[in-house]
Amino acid sequence: MSKKLIVGNWKMNGSLAANAALVGDLLGGIGQPECDVAVCPPAIYLAQLRGLLDGSPIELGVQNVSMHDHGAYTGDVSAEMLKDYGVRYAIVGHSERRQHQAESDVHVALKAKRALAAGITPIVCVGETLREHEAGMTEFIVKRQLSAVIHLNGHCVSEIVVAYEPVWAIGTGQTATPEQAQSVHAVLRAQIRAATEHAERVRILYGGSMNASNAAELLSQPDIDGGLIGGASLKAADFLKIIMAAKA
Ligand code: 13P
Repeated sequence: MSKKLIVGNWKMNGSLAANAALVGDLLGGIGQPECDVAVCPPAIYLAQLRGLLDGSPIELGVQNVSMHDHGAYTGDVSAEMLKDYGVRYAIVGHSERRQHQAESDVHVALKAKRALAAGITPIVCVGETLREHEAGMTEFIVKRQLSAVIHLNGHCVSEIVVAYEPVWAIGTGQTATPEQAQSVHAVLRAQIRAATEHAERVRILYGGSMNASNAAELLSQPDIDGGLIGGASLKAADFLKIIMAAKA
């Protein structure tokens, strides 16, 4: 099994000054981590972060990528452009974008394909809303979301990262229990196994109120290969504790 992966999703937070301070604190405490680590700042700060992270163990990610390759798509940033800036990971299909930007399963699959073609690892987010959770639809929803990506990307799916982020757990302080998360991760693993013989190397991250106190237990589950962290990734001390909890 590959190393665990801890990714900070900064969402729409930060400033030149705040980013420099946060990265300074992270680099001051990170040492030689046993896991892979990345941060995903707002795209406008990529050039700054590229400079700050140069030569460090923290890799650069983004929160979105265009589903088109180039041309008349006002406001979009292509995977090739991101690659130019040293971007290693691209979050696609975050529930906030599915909800606020009306991103469909097909859009998400196309974005994953663009990222892969540019040599960027897509972090494909799946997860059910509270209503779907309460209706017992979790498995149906996450499988539908992932199957669009598998359908379009075929055996390349062995190159993606998946993030299970139950929408009801995001920013609410209400984390899925380790058992709840593990059972969904096992479903996703089985689905990936049906698509590729390399399913064991696909890292499946958990996201949703993961923090310094609950990370170790979540990360000890057999199919939880890392975390996608929102709020706690904006606090250096908390993010570092999560990184330390992510042993192979
Ligand atoms: P929180 O860690 O703030 O719940 O956010 C999770 C998330 O959405 C990461 O992508």
